[in-house]
Amino acid sequence: MRTLIKHVLASAESRETVTVKGWVRTRRDAKGFSFLELNDGSCLASLQVVVDAGTPGSENLAHFTTGASAVVEGKLVPSPAPGQKWELRASRIELVGVADANYPLQKKGHTLEFLRTIAHLRPRSNLFGAMFRARSKLAFAVHEFFQSRDFVYVHTPIITASDCEGAGEMFRVTTLKGKPDEKPEMDFFGKPTYLTVSGQLEGETFACALSNIYTFGPTFRAENSNTARHAAEFWMIEPEMAFCDLPGDMDLAEEFVKAMARYTLEHCAEDLALFARFVDKGVNERLKFVVERPFVRVPYTEAVEILKKSGKPFEFPVDHGQNLQSEHERFLTEDHFKSPTTVFNYPREIKPFYMRLNDDARTVTAMDVLVPGIGEVIGGAQREERLDQLSENMKFHKLRPEDYWWYVDLRRYGTVPHAGFGLGFERLLMFLTGVSNIRDVIPFARTPGNAEF
Ligand code: 4AD
Ligand code: MG
Repeated sequence: MRTLIKHVLASAESRETVTVKGWVRTRRDAKGFSFLELNDGSCLASLQVVVDAGTPGSENLAHFTTGASAVVEGKLVPSPAPGQKWELRASRIELVGVADANYPLQKKGHTLEFLRTIAHLRPRSNLFGAMFRARSKLAFAVHEFFQSRDFVYVHTPIITASDCEGAGEMFRVTTLKGKPDEKPEMDFFGKPTYLTVSGQLEGETFACALSNIYTFGPTFRAENSNTARHAAEFWMIEPEMAFCDLPGDMDLAEEFVKAMARYTLEHCAEDLALFARFVDKGVNERLKFVVERPFVRVPYTEAVEILKKSGKPFEFPVDHGQNLQSEHERFLTEDHFKSPTTVFNYPREIKPFYMRLNDDARTVTAMDVLVPGIGEVIGGAQREERLDQLSENMKFHKLRPEDYWWYVDLRRYGTVPHAGFGLGFERLLMFLTGVSNIRDVIPFARTPGNAEF
């Protein structure tokens, strides 16, 4: 019976026989015995195995090279070596699969860029093992956060005919072959369809029935931005709450980010220590700061004033009515407020049709949560629940209400104030671990020009 190395290392006492299975990290031969470091990915640490000459299976010892897979049976005893509590005295070793001498993870200290080119092997490195264990834990934490608050998990469709964000950044889904006589009606769904950019519109329909819901699934954007924080395929978490306004939405967003930071500190300590050592020295302090301190909240107009007065030579101009660029977002959180910051009430021209128009008739109830090092992690809003105003918003954004008839219907039958947001899971992971490129927090990154693996 196999025991995961994580459990072996957490043993309270010595054990007569333990069987572990994993991959060899290193082997060192001494006179009369050898050391094997075996790692099975269940935790960061490897298990030290001591193999005496003559141990059954050791006739194959020369093949226990870095990357080879093996089974080891033995006795768990206190280790005399510093920094490790236990070691395994092998009573039998078995080679399962050899690793060619050209195994690319021979040495430590490969660059992240190189590791991206071997994305099929990089989970075997310390950094990526830690990353993907943390990603798994945090995905669980997301569900726990919402489930414990009675939010219902809704699976919104991946193939859709509507552009939620209205930004025209959708991937087409089609079975047409691109022949000249083909019409959209001949396509699989009888009309043009795309990969979803957001589950929000469908999410709203469920919130207007089940009250509090959330989605958590893959999302696609064909924006051609080759930056460290954009991916063409990413995972988004989108809560939606009926009978909720903008302040309630901002409260939930803040509580959510704080809960994720707390969870990381409490449940990912070993992996977090690795990030603190090799990626971001201040990561623990940053997470504690996030947990303990309230986020700053500032209206868009005021944020623009701050940016204009800063005297900073920004690459993109700052002006009322313009979108905040990443450099502006980062200035606000890193230099000015030195805190996660929620910016709200944006000009209506730069935000989608579904946001609620404020009484000033110029701004909408949008809110973005910005964090140091990344900028926007959350975008959300109170939704336009008034039928007339929604129709006017659609006209304003040059959309056809008939394309959104079912969405408009929600305002016709028992409409309610409601609000929600979308959090990019990868951006959250970047923030929580300090890993600065989105390509390194997702197993297989999809970015412009790259769909390898
Ligand atoms: O601000 P966005 O576009 O908002 C929406 O999609 C709303 N429908 C959400 C809602 O209210 N239910 O996207 C939400 C978040 C962003 O703040 C960002 O974290 C992430 O999704 N995001 C991306 N992450 C990685 N790569 C991209 N290309 C992303 N685009 C957005
Ligand atoms: Mg946004």
